[in-house]
Amino acid sequence: MSLEDLTKTPFLSRGEEETGVFAKKLAETLKPNTVLLLRGEVGAGKTFFSSHVAKNFGADELTSSSFACVTKHAGRWNVIHCDFYRKRATQSFFDTEIEPHLATPWLLLIEWPERMAEHEMIAGNEALDVHIQREGTGKRKITVARVN
Ligand SMILES: Nc1ncnc2c1ncn2[C@@H]1O[C@H](COP(=O)(O)OP(=O)(O)OP(=O)(O)O)[C@@H](O)[C@H]1O
Ligand SMILES: [Mg+2]
Repeated sequence: MSLEDLTKTPFLSRGEEETGVFAKKLAETLKPNTVLLLRGEVGAGKTFFSSHVAKNFGADELTSSSFACVTKHAGRWNVIHCDFYRKRATQSFFDTEIEPHLATPWLLLIEWPERMAEHEMIAGNEALDVHIQREGTGKRKITVARVN
């Protein structure tokens, strides 16, 4: 399945397992050096989705990172996971705390991108929005869209 197919219509997940399978499908379409912007309310499933994407690249230990807002997971790709819920990310934070970790091939997963300063790094790379919305107990609507 291509990325174009995945962005055409939102995916309706009826449970964690289906979300995991969808995350893996998306991961398989990604090019090296991509940014995923994970949107959705508290508990929507951004970390859950991120961990299944990361697993596809051999990065296993990804869990919720409320304190460490940047965590690095070396697998087949360098997977960097950030959560800006508590700590807003300024441009200088990006330059000092994130950019140095981006050794090719990398994948940058960002939860709460709304709280991040606009950064030229995102504009200059492949970036995708992944919006996860609750649709009743255990169900989620997942919409993937290209940013650039
Ligand atoms: N269909 C589903 N897809 C994904 N997660 C689901 C689904 N159904 C239930 N869940 C559960 O929803 C929860 C999502 O939690 P998660 O920590 O991933 O949310 P989050 O969006 O990262 O929240 P936060 O903004 O607090 O970081 C998990 O406990 C997960 O098991
Ligand atoms: Mg989270």
